[in-house]
Amino acid sequence: MSLNFALIGYPIQHSLSPWLHTRFLEKADLKGTYSLFEVRPEDDFSLKIKELKEKNPNGFNITFPYKEKIIDYLDEIDETVRVMGAVNTVLAKNGKWIGYNTDGKGYFRAVKNSYPHLGATKDLKVLLIGSGGASRAIYYELVQEELAIVDITNRTKEKAETIAALNKGKTKTNIYSLKEAEQHLEQYDLIIQTTSVGMEPNDQQTPLHLNSLKNNAVVSDIVYQPMKTKLLQEAESLDANVHYGHTMLLHQAQYAFEIWTGKKVDVTGMENKLQDILEGR
Ligand code: ATR
Repeated sequence: MSLNFALIGYPIQHSLSPWLHTRFLEKADLKGTYSLFEVRPEDDFSLKIKELKEKNPNGFNITFPYKEKIIDYLDEIDETVRVMGAVNTVLAKNGKWIGYNTDGKGYFRAVKNSYPHLGATKDLKVLLIGSGGASRAIYYELVQEELAIVDITNRTKEKAETIAALNKGKTKTNIYSLKEAEQHLEQYDLIIQTTSVGMEPNDQQTPLHLNSLKNNAVVSDIVYQPMKTKLLQEAESLDANVHYGHTMLLHQAQYAFEIWTGKKVDVTGMENKLQDILEGR
């Protein structure tokens, strides 16, 4: 049997997903293909989805600008989609389409893979910078993991409060302005930057300055263009551990592949290769 996966979105011609999933198929010793299914803004979305259904995919990824729109075409959604209101992975199972959002789990897998000590204890103090979609997904995952403290800092505090309202568990959350957070940085084991600040063309900016950091702290930035953001450069100059955003792409894809096939492929060595591709080497 040959498996059939796809990516839906627009524009998608530069997506790394075909490369990633083709490697995963090889690693898992499975036959299959991963193709691009471009849906242009002027296309009739319902018709295109019908066309996709006729191709009988085993699963697909869905990206900008259809992550919300696809929900109406699904038979089931998991908890992550309910929380996020957005889907990026769909599994076809027994004739049903089931939607997932892999952002939160993909991120946490990525950072634990680079820094295993972060997965060894729940007694972590984390600071999340930003309150957009990525922050929401990561916050939800860290709360599900029952980490001790996950504070949120954002330019607009009200948005941080909306995210903190997702917390029904044991995790404690304080909300800080960016200036306030700057003054508390030395308490955190993990600082996660999720805003667009630092991304090209704003690559000379940081949302806050890293003055004092805890010994052995990890500073993580989900921005991957550029790979070494200004914030990560600051972190390095303070001898902190740094974690790069492109690894989230890899681990999200690994998790999607696992949802589709039940196989968790070993991604050792793929981070460097992905970095080379992203940097055009
Ligand atoms: P995504 O869904 O990709 O995570 P988003 O919803 O566009 O991103 O959210 C962008 C995040 O970047 C928000 O936290 C935003 O802060 P506000 O909630 O105050 O808008 C943050 N952000 C964007 N530009 C910023 C800037 N110049 N300084 C500080 N934060 C900024």
